[in-house]
Amino acid sequence: MPEQPVVKRVRTRHFQNAKDTGVKITGLTSYDMLTADIFDAAGIDFLLVGDSAANNVLGYDTTLPVSTDELLPLTRAVAASVRRAFVVADMPFGSYESGPEAALHTAFRFMKEAEAHAVKLEGGVRSAEQIRRIVDAGIPVMGHIGFTPQSEHGLGGHLIQGRGDAAERLLADAHAVEDAGAFAVVLEMVPSAVAKRVTEELRIPTIGVGAGPHVDGQLLVWTDFAGFTGGRVPKFVRQYANLRETLTTAVTEYRADVASGSYPSADESYDA
Ligand code: KIV
Repeated sequence: MPEQPVVKRVRTRHFQNAKDTGVKITGLTSYDMLTADIFDAAGIDFLLVGDSAANNVLGYDTTLPVSTDELLPLTRAVAASVRRAFVVADMPFGSYESGPEAALHTAFRFMKEAEAHAVKLEGGVRSAEQIRRIVDAGIPVMGHIGFTPQSEHGLGGHLIQGRGDAAERLLADAHAVEDAGAFAVVLEMVPSAVAKRVTEELRIPTIGVGAGPHVDGQLLVWTDFAGFTGGRVPKFVRQYANLRETLTTAVTEYRADVASGSYPSADESYDA
């Protein structure tokens, strides 16, 4: 396994260096200062303040309703809490599709008001002009193709993308994102073999979310990887903890201790 270089602050050039030298890039979502601090200290290379905050923080059913105004404070909290990790702000549905100027306006807000380091937006060929306009203004863009949750109704549900003949369309999307100037591209729910082909054809790094091992980096939604959400998680998620169980046990004990009078004890109380 290639050596992880010591990097004071991750920049876009480190993503490219990683691809060029075969070092894997690691990303997680984060929506708050506490997780951002922990993930950053653990050496996670980039934190995505995903619009998945919609389902994981704000109580929406899908990512569609979440707005820029709702994501800005979460992004600001994450950006303010990292020392090393690169912070990517997700541009929400409806904030960039109408054209390059709308996209640039949203990107400016995330960079100025939240101090993000880059933005991410969904779509390949269809979003290329938006990506180019933002990159031309000096803002790094991470692309996102394959399954794009903001289009879940158009795509007919949570379906794997790029199977069979659709592989060529996925490749065209990947090239469009690269040609528009993105520094990296997320491949979500794509067959392993297709993700491998995209990774071999592109100069920029590919970041997989359910795209198998032959990509340049991996990204997971933190509440999934830490077992916080409960219920079913996608097949590609490996759960590294069961925080839901841990927290449920803790809160149940706390409630019982309060009810029985064993909390607080004399040691946990102030003397006169
Ligand atoms: O919002 C998000 O968490 C995402 C990743 C799953 C790619 O866009």
